[in-house]
Amino acid sequence: MRKKVSIIGAGNVGATAAHWIASKELADVVLVDIAEGIPQGKALDLLQAMPIEKRDLHVLGSNDYDATANSDIVVITAGIPRKPGMSRDDLLNTNYKIMQDVVGKVVAASPDAILIVVSNPLDAMAQAAYKISGFNRERVLGMAGVLDSARFRTFIAEELNVSVENVTAFVLGGHGDTMVPLARYSTVAGIPITELIAPDRLKQLIERTANGGAEIVKHLKTGSAYYAPSSATAEMVEAILKDKKKIMPCAAFLQGEYGIDGLYVGVPCKLGERGLEQIIQIKLTDEENAALQKSAASVKELVNVIGV
Ligand code: APR
Repeated sequence: MRKKVSIIGAGNVGATAAHWIASKELADVVLVDIAEGIPQGKALDLLQAMPIEKRDLHVLGSNDYDATANSDIVVITAGIPRKPGMSRDDLLNTNYKIMQDVVGKVVAASPDAILIVVSNPLDAMAQAAYKISGFNRERVLGMAGVLDSARFRTFIAEELNVSVENVTAFVLGGHGDTMVPLARYSTVAGIPITELIAPDRLKQLIERTANGGAEIVKHLKTGSAYYAPSSATAEMVEAILKDKKKIMPCAAFLQGEYGIDGLYVGVPCKLGERGLEQIIQIKLTDEENAALQKSAASVKELVNVIGV
């Protein structure tokens, strides 16, 4: 039987995630939104591309969670995006209210699903979904690290004029200005980038990565990034549905790993059919660890505000 992925929020990120998932023929897709007609119209439009793309799957849009029943994965993108000058954290209270509306309905329709949270501020919204759902941590993940590391990989590949396929990059920490791109673990064809890019220039690329979302918001003026965020989401969906055991940075609920307890923070995770199958612990230098703890502290501040 075909797998089923529901996406809550049929806006830019949600609809584009549906597009990537359908184009890779990963699963039937259900788009849900509170806006009447939007999920129905976008789903029907996407469905009509399937004969051209030679993909056999169904795409359905609805305002009703019944359509999402028994999903294997539910991606949550409902929420307002950032506006220029707005930090991800400004979104906190608005998107928390939306999360309170959405997660209970998702869980009632799909009690066995794996949740992937995309709404910002990411780590706090993942923590909210984890608490509201009552699911174990294996089944609630946040999408941020795949996107942040893809941004870092893009800048490294451009800098060195090499294929993006040669570049691996690692980014830890919360999804925000305090994220921790790990240059030591970022490589080009196995060679650490610290041997290929001068420290000052590397610092600039790291800063651009940390401000990657804001750079796009500044261009767009209304709305925020969605092609890369939705592509990153589809990669997580694929790793889970195909039980790939793929290691990628995701926001996960830490229970003592990296010295952090009871908090969603971005760390290397192994994704497979059970969702989060392992948190990979890597040795950090004192400086890297301090940056990670600082990033975790900023996530903690947000979760304290909403009390999750
Ligand atoms: N239930 C269902 N859908 C909702 C709800 C709700 N309670 N509240 C809002 N939505 C829908 C909106 O109607 C809209 O269609 O969520 C959608 C959000 O889409 P966009 O405004 O296009 O925002 P997008 O760019 O997709 O970003 C969504 O993902 O990356 C994050 O920061 C981003 O938090 C934001 C989220």
